[in-house]
Amino acid sequence: MSLGPLDPLSPECRLDPQVAHRLRDMSLLVSLPSITLRLMSLITDPNSSVKDLREVVEKDPALAAKVISLANSSYYSVRSPIKTVDRAITIIGYQELGFMAMGLGLNETFNINAAPEDFDGEGLWLHSLAVSWLAQRLAMKIGFPDSGEAMIAGLLHELGIIILVSKFPLLFQKLMDLILAGHNWLAAENALKIRHDLVGYELAKLWKLPEVYQEAILYHHVPERARQNKVLVAMTSLSDALSSKIGFGLKTEINEVDLGYSLSALSLTPYALQDFIRETIGKINEALPMWRQLLKSAQRPTNNSRFSSLIKDPAKSADHDGVS
Ligand SMILES: [Fe+2]
Ligand SMILES: [Fe+2]
Repeated sequence: MSLGPLDPLSPECRLDPQVAHRLRDMSLLVSLPSITLRLMSLITDPNSSVKDLREVVEKDPALAAKVISLANSSYYSVRSPIKTVDRAITIIGYQELGFMAMGLGLNETFNINAAPEDFDGEGLWLHSLAVSWLAQRLAMKIGFPDSGEAMIAGLLHELGIIILVSKFPLLFQKLMDLILAGHNWLAAENALKIRHDLVGYELAKLWKLPEVYQEAILYHHVPERARQNKVLVAMTSLSDALSSKIGFGLKTEINEVDLGYSLSALSLTPYALQDFIRETIGKINEALPMWRQLLKSAQRPTNNSRFSSLIKDPAKSADHDGVS
């Protein structure tokens, strides 16, 4: 099924000029911490070492402290206290450490607590973490040479929603009102001229993030439109769609993507996909405590009374039927 009219670069998806203008201003005022950008390149550099990663993390005492605190969390059940970044890396693992450090950097840049006060910010972060985790596992399954790149694309894919939530809270509130009234998410964004895939892409472009991430952000809902990084975009898009299968999808029809296209772009059969879903569902309980620990050290808790329905409750929504 093609979703042609939903191509975020089509004229009907054009951003509100004021939003585009504010994004340009914002790109000068707000940036991803340089440490996050450095971590991004280290994680995706096959020649980088644990020592390189450690040196970057140690340059930021607050980050180093958080990383050490994560290594000491109950998730890793270490016997004696971890006191150094070196030991923390040994406990947590190279890619996971970079992933968590990046998550913390993003969280610091975009305070999603500025959102409508009842928005389920934690649900949005958990979704981003889940897609990142799935993309990394999917990359390993299909033999994609750079699972770190897939992981980062997954973490960044909803950059636009994160921006809308944290920097355009009033507009985001209008969007929520439309969605809660029954409108399709992307259609509501089109009506308000705030397509999140386009918002994320525009900022990623202004920030000069690598093109591969720009494309993953722009086309995660229409992977068939990708031009240069077709496999990575298909992996991000499929992981996004699969997130609901493991209980971390964004509720609404936002995930109506062309699964058939992604499967063929990744040379995956529906049977292989079913296997993958079964494997990941079996592992999700290992990953979830780590994500929760990460979020706990990164942000204050939110009160989810009004908008929690926008994010599926993982305990209730796990759908184990698979995709065919
Ligand atoms: Fe999205
Ligand atoms: Fe998503």
